[in-house]
Amino acid sequence: MNKILILLIQYEIISIILTKPIPQLNNIFNRKLFNLNGKWKYIVDLQEVGYYDYRMNISNQTFFLNHKNKTKDELVEYNFDAAPEMEIPSDWNSKNHKLFFYEGTIWFKKSFNYTLNNNKRAILYFGAINYESIVYLNGKYLGKHVGGFTPFNFDITDIIKNDKENFLIIKIDNTRKFENVPSLFFDWWNYGGITRDVFIIETNKIYIQNYNFTLNKKNYSEISFNIILNDNIYNKSLLITISELNINAKFYSNKKGIISGILYPENLILWSPENPKLYTLKLKLEDDEELIDQIGFRSIEVSGNKILLNGNEIFLRGVNIHEEKPNSEGRLNSYEDVKIMLDRVIELGCNFVRLAHYPHNEYMIREAEKKGILIWEEIPVYWTIAFDNIDTLNNAKNQLTELIYRDINRANVIIWSISNETPLSKSRDNFLSKLAIHAKSLDNSRLISMAIMGKYKKGNYNNIFINDNIAEYLDIISFNNYFGWYGKKLLKKPAKINWIIPYNKPVIISEFGAGAKQGYHGDKFTRWTEEFQENVYIQNLKTIEKIPNLVGTVPWILNDFLSPRRMLNIIQDLYNRKGIFSNEGEKKLAFNIIKKFYEKKKEKPLLRKNIRKEFFFCFSLFIIKISLSIFLSSKKIE
Ligand code: GCU
Repeated sequence: MNKILILLIQYEIISIILTKPIPQLNNIFNRKLFNLNGKWKYIVDLQEVGYYDYRMNISNQTFFLNHKNKTKDELVEYNFDAAPEMEIPSDWNSKNHKLFFYEGTIWFKKSFNYTLNNNKRAILYFGAINYESIVYLNGKYLGKHVGGFTPFNFDITDIIKNDKENFLIIKIDNTRKFENVPSLFFDWWNYGGITRDVFIIETNKIYIQNYNFTLNKKNYSEISFNIILNDNIYNKSLLITISELNINAKFYSNKKGIISGILYPENLILWSPENPKLYTLKLKLEDDEELIDQIGFRSIEVSGNKILLNGNEIFLRGVNIHEEKPNSEGRLNSYEDVKIMLDRVIELGCNFVRLAHYPHNEYMIREAEKKGILIWEEIPVYWTIAFDNIDTLNNAKNQLTELIYRDINRANVIIWSISNETPLSKSRDNFLSKLAIHAKSLDNSRLISMAIMGKYKKGNYNNIFINDNIAEYLDIISFNNYFGWYGKKLLKKPAKINWIIPYNKPVIISEFGAGAKQGYHGDKFTRWTEEFQENVYIQNLKTIEKIPNLVGTVPWILNDFLSPRRMLNIIQDLYNRKGIFSNEGEKKLAFNIIKKFYEKKKEKPLLRKNIRKEFFFCFSLFIIKISLSIFLSSKKIE
């Protein structure tokens, strides 16, 4: 017994030494890919028998070794070959109805053949796995990843076999735990599994690991760049080509294997929702293939209480979306799904989406970039989190890092959000301020925000206070407010509401809305009817217009979505019904209210500015009239 255990631990240690987790690669889809999507074998392992024995020690029949009976009498109590299959990427909850409510461990196995040339490297890439994944290749431990919504990769060059079948085995556990991010309670379905693409990326020994290109906010004819190679190789040349901008220049790596510099584009067209201009960027490392990317350039900044996109004030006509298939259950994971979602967003009149409450699929980001849709991205620091737990903080930081590394070159991504509706406390402030600083340290070209909750003093519902101890770390003050739905206060006199926001910063209302069962009709005071939801929006928009420094509105939410917190039979049936569309894609009455509001916003994006102009215009008219009448009356006297 112990001999096997010692062997196993030695095995683990050797494989840890052999395989090293490597920094994240970006721009995956344009790299040389071997697709591992498709049919995977899976074994549901409620009591983690595949990992621990009945004495809770590491089992000597750990599933990652993919045991095969050596003799006919040998007892092996699992067999991947005989196991059922699941199409990957997907979540197990919608793929097998027996697993609809399942939270726990499932083992996945994929066998494949691969031939790797000597002068190449092989990088195993996962778009995302929810929640904790322990990855093995050919029985060797590659590493562990926590966090269900961001990519990670391992270098498997030294483990992959050319002459034999390779077997990739992953232990996935989506059990909710207090110290996790998100923690125990969240208002969305805890979809488990390999929810995004799995690829082997083939590269040269020296390859481009990650890069970012940033437009100089103060001078639009300057683009600075940083290109990180996978090794500290000095003086390696790299050709950067953006032919439309007449850029074709060679740069060299420094001792750290970093290539950085400034490009001087000619006649640069800035990316904007009205003109989502993307350029073809080619990066050619010495004796290597070209890495191509579609990239846009724009500047985003805050100026006082305004958001400036390319120096112009912008109003964010937004909507929240969850990463769930538009017309069925399951994690959204395809371009087709993304297109349906974005068509609805555009039909609603939006130029902005808040991807709630976790990083969504890269397909969503890239398709939105092509369609001119601005994006708010968020990590799932949601409601109560273990704010005192350093591992939880490092986990949240890591999710932020992986998100920013993935989307740092996307022109449409303008806001990194570090949390949603977290309860106030000193440790919370400490936790969140560290996250805000971390985000800025990774990317100083975008805006930081988070969704806080409006507060009011008991019995005085007309004064809504929007403030937060860590506001100094935020570029934008964003808050959620459910007037007319949560709490007793129905919105009888919206005009009476006073919004007290003690910051000269831009303000976004990041959530508001109400629930309605599509097709259920009645008077506007009957909860769950479409008329009730419609009325809540009508009343809310009246008071929202009065919010000082308002630069964006983001109704909760585009589609009804699955949530284990929504039990009301016949009405909710496990769906959060605050969608503007039902979970089958049918519009609710509220759709027209928001669409009309956004049409008005398109015409007069910023009330604030017009009022001032109008006021100035009227006032000068008034002065002219007064002085004229004085002049005329003095003439008459003469
Ligand atoms: C919260 C929360 C959402 C939730 C919504 C609701 O504000 O941020 O995740 O789904 O309210 O209650 O519907």
